[in-house]
Amino acid sequence: MDLWTALSLTYLWIKAAHVIFVIFWIAGLFLLPRYYIYHQESPPGSEEERRWIDREAKLRRIILTPAMILVWVAGLVLASSGSWWQAGWLHAKLLLVLGLSAYHGYMVGYGKKLARGVRPVSGKALRLMNEVPGIATAIIVVLVIVKPL
Ligand code: HEM
Repeated sequence: MDLWTALSLTYLWIKAAHVIFVIFWIAGLFLLPRYYIYHQESPPGSEEERRWIDREAKLRRIILTPAMILVWVAGLVLASSGSWWQAGWLHAKLLLVLGLSAYHGYMVGYGKKLARGVRPVSGKALRLMNEVPGIATAIIVVLVIVKPL
């Protein structure tokens, strides 16, 4: 096998890893505000609330944060090894992914407030915010596959 074939095979393996971790990350982002909605329906200080706090912390620690880091690492390696830095679709995608990372950060912070007994927004507002990752994912996938820019 020549060097070029070896490099492009590596690229494909990294891309596969990228998409696998994207799935874990986005699944976690779909789930976390859902947990918060159920959490906020439990009586403050109850055993049920304690269980939600535990589930939320585990979801963040085991799935969400590691998956986000791995998506970023693999994505940046792909962008560099594929020489994509000048591509318009990547600029637009990076903007959206930065927004998604900020959403992730907000949701992690929200969970820490919930664990302290503060419930900053209503269940209805959480349901609305829960639409953000779905919309962002739809636009990102079109950008990266159709590459309209
Ligand atoms: C964190 C920053 C990210 C960077 C720097 C990045 C960068 C890249 C690059 C350079 C590629 C290779 C494109 C190609 O070979 O044609 C790629 C592929 C892909 N990315 Fe990302 N990405 C990031 C995050 C995400 C996110 C959050 C999603 C989904 C919500 C996503 C979904 C995909 C998909 C589905 C592909 C495969 C496209 C194909 O089949 O060729 N990426 N990414």
